Amino acid sequence: MADNKPATLTVHDKTLELPVMSPTVGPDVVDITKLYGQGGVFTFDPGFTSTAACKSAITYIDGDVGELWYRGYPIEQLADKSHYLEVCYLLIYGELPSKAQMEDFEYRVTHHTMVHEQMQYFFRGFRRDSHPMATMVGVVGALSAFYHDSLDISDPWHREVASIRLIAKLPTIAAMAYKYSLGQPFVYPRNELDYASNFLHMCFSVPAEQYTVDPALARAMDRIFTLHADHEQNASTSTVRLAGSSGANPFACIAAGIACLWGPAHGGANQAALEMLEQIGTVDRIPEFIARAKDKDDPFRLMGFGHRVYKNFDPRAKIMKESADEVLGILGIENNPTLQVAKELERIALEDEYFVSKKLYPNVDFYSGIILSAMGFPTSMFTPIFALSRTVGWISQWTEMLADPDNKIGRPRQLYIGSNRRDYVEVGDR
Ligand code: SDX
Repeated sequence: MADNKPATLTVHDKTLELPVMSPTVGPDVVDITKLYGQGGVFTFDPGFTSTAACKSAITYIDGDVGELWYRGYPIEQLADKSHYLEVCYLLIYGELPSKAQMEDFEYRVTHHTMVHEQMQYFFRGFRRDSHPMATMVGVVGALSAFYHDSLDISDPWHREVASIRLIAKLPTIAAMAYKYSLGQPFVYPRNELDYASNFLHMCFSVPAEQYTVDPALARAMDRIFTLHADHEQNASTSTVRLAGSSGANPFACIAAGIACLWGPAHGGANQAALEMLEQIGTVDRIPEFIARAKDKDDPFRLMGFGHRVYKNFDPRAKIMKESADEVLGILGIENNPTLQVAKELERIALEDEYFVSKKLYPNVDFYSGIILSAMGFPTSMFTPIFALSRTVGWISQWTEMLADPDNKIGRPRQLYIGSNRRDYVEVGDR
C-alpha cells in the first residue's frame, strides 16, 4: 500500500492530517483510526457506503465496470475453467493448488462430509415445515457442541480443521434440512462422488431406488457454488468478521453469517426473486410490477435487481443467465415461462429511465432461482444453497481477520440523538 500525501480535515478549530493509503487496485482510503483521539469527532456512515472496515487480499470488486476477482482471478475464468473445491483452495490459501495439493485438499474435505450421528436429533426438534434456513442456523451453530477439538481459534491447526469441517459439512446439513422438510430419510454422503454430485445425491436420492446424478446438472451446480463463493465485505461476511472479532468459535460465526444472509435484501433475494417472477406470471403483467417498483409509496422492489457495489452488470448474473439457458435446454424446458418473464423483465427494466438512472442491473440472485427450480429445488432451498456456497468465503475472511495484526474487536460508535441526562421520576409524579 503506497502512502500518499495525507488528507487534511478541518473540523471545529482543529486541522488534522490523515494518512491516505493506496490499495493494489481500487479507491484510495483515508485512515481515520486516530480521528476521534486527535479530533474528538466520529465519522457517520450508516450502511458503511463509504467505509473500508478492513484490509483484505481475498476478493476484489469493481462495481463500475462489473469486475469480480477471487485472489486476482476473474470470475469468468474461474467459472469456465476451475471447479468449486479448487476455488475453495484458492480462497483459503491464496494460490491455485498443484495437482498434489488439490488431491490432498479434496481428500480432506471428502473425509469430513459426514456429521455426528447425534446431529439427527437436532433436526427432529424442528417442525417439518420449518424453513431450511432456520434449521441450518440452529444446526451449524450446534456444531460447536460437537467439535471441541477445533475451537481454539489461536491455534492455526484448529482454524484449518474447523474450516475443512465447515466446507465439508454444510452440503450435508443443507441436504438434511431439505430431506427433513420432505419427511424423507437423511441420505449419507458418498465419497466416490465429487462435491456437487454428492450434494445432488444427498438431496434427490431415496433408499427405494437408484439415483444417478446428471453430470451436466452437477457441473451447473458446481458453477453456482463458485459464483456464490465470496464477495468482499458484504453484509453476511461483515457479520462473520464482527462475530469472529470477539473470539467466538468458527461454527458460531458461520451460523451468524447464515442468519444475516437469510434477509431478502441479501441472500434471501434469490427466493424472493423467483417468487416475484412467478407472481408476475406472464410477460403482459411486467409493466404493472415495473410501475410498483418505481412507486415511492410502494415498498415493492424488483428482487434480484440492484446492488450496493455493482453500478453495472453483476458479472455473476451474466454467467448465471447463460447457465440458465444451458440447464433448461438440457432439461428440455427452454420455453420455461418464468425464464421468459425474467428475460423480458430484464430487457424492459434496462431500457427504463428509473433503473438506468439509478444504475439498477440484475444481480446474482436474478437468474439463480430459475436454474435451481428447474433442477427440482423448492424456493426454500435457494438461500441454503447460497449459504453452503458462501461458507468458504466466510471462513476465508474469518481466517484472514484472525491473522491480521491490526485485528481488534469490532465496536462502532454512534450519533446519539436520544434524551439529554435527566433524573428518575416516581410514578406518582409522572
Ligand atoms: C446480494 O453486498 C453484496 O455483495 C451482496 C451479494 C453477495 O454476493 O454477497 O451480492 C448478494 O445480496 C445481492 C443483492 C440481492 N438483493 C436484492 O436483489 C434485493 C433488491 N435489491 C435492493 O433491495 C437493493 O438494490 C440492495 C439492497 C441490493 C442495495 O441497496 P442499496 O445499495 O442500499 O441501495 P438503495 O436501497 O439505497 O437503493 C438506491 C435507490 C433507491 O431509490 P432512491 O431512494 O435513491 O430514490 O435505488 C432504488 C431505491 O429505492 N432501488 C430499487 C431497487 N434497488 C434499489 N428500486 C426498485 N427495485 C430494486 N431492486
